[in-house]
Amino acid sequence: MRQMLDKLPRISLANLPTPLADLPRLSQQYGGPPLAIKRDDLTGLATGGNKTRKLEFLIADAVARGCDTVITAGGPQSNHCRQTAAAAAIAGLDCQLVLGGEPRPPLGNLLLDELLGATVHWTAGPNRNARMQELAAELTAQGRRPDVIPVGGSNALGAIGYVAAMFELVEQLVEQCRGAPHIVFPTSSGGTQAGIVLGARLAGFAGRITAISVDQVPDEQIPAERADERFLAQVAAVANGAAQLLGADVTLSPADFATNYGYLGAGYGVVGDLERDAIRRLARSEGVLVGPVYSGRALGALLDLAAGGYFAADESVLFWHTGDESALHAYADELT
Ligand SMILES: Cc1ncc(COP(=O)(O)O)c(C=O)c1O
Repeated sequence: MRQMLDKLPRISLANLPTPLADLPRLSQQYGGPPLAIKRDDLTGLATGGNKTRKLEFLIADAVARGCDTVITAGGPQSNHCRQTAAAAAIAGLDCQLVLGGEPRPPLGNLLLDELLGATVHWTAGPNRNARMQELAAELTAQGRRPDVIPVGGSNALGAIGYVAAMFELVEQLVEQCRGAPHIVFPTSSGGTQAGIVLGARLAGFAGRITAISVDQVPDEQIPAERADERFLAQVAAVANGAAQLLGADVTLSPADFATNYGYLGAGYGVVGDLERDAIRRLARSEGVLVGPVYSGRALGALLDLAAGGYFAADESVLFWHTGDESALHAYADELT
């Protein structure tokens, strides 16, 4: 399987392997099982984050197909958009970003998008996908060769980045003589989760995996009561698409993706006490920053779950830091 992974076109964007380290002071303070961290905030691409791993495959594919432009979409503080802009700069591609909402002051990731040379298109309402297709058609009519990367880079090829990451983690666990931990991380568009769960299966990882949802699928056509079902079907489809790309004889079903929706708070990107406390606790115990939208929420959830006895006494817990601290400044009012 490793050979299949190594055969896919990939460009090097990340400093790998990212560190796997203990969090001794936080572990002592919170009184739960021993806590470790996987530092994907240190992938190193324009401050880092989980999307770097997906983009190694997505951008290589765009280049291999002769594209000269990448189009992608996200929220105004999208980490995916910021990292896509940086990856495009490295690969010599033009980057066009469709951001949902109204124009706003250039803070946090939005400032970085501009510094990285991306062109931003604002669009109101839930029509980001339609706007990306429209933009692709406009650019094609001008003789350009655009590639549309889906929101979050969450397709089968993007998920391969986290299949590879699981092989990396399993190697580190062996090297560092650690047992298999219970992995906790944030999920949103689901590609990271698809890759981690598929990668766990392919790399023989024996630990548990819990994804913390930071939002529900932002698709108004899905009735709220069916959002979970549809979301997990979509994650399973992405994982199975990735398995196919790798020629792996594996089929995952929605039941394979343990997802906790108990920490949605007041909604996507709305910072509450959970995030405020988690950000401060990690910063003040370990000197590590987590972000306001994804990693802060997932860490807050992890600490709350630990306090409620969710983890087994003999389990170690791994917080997979997916890197959104570059958005902190844009949330200064909510964080202070
Ligand atoms: C920092 C961070 N963590 C986690 C996620 C969730 O990853 P995915 O969209 O693959 O579910 C994102 C997505 O944008 C993110 O920016």
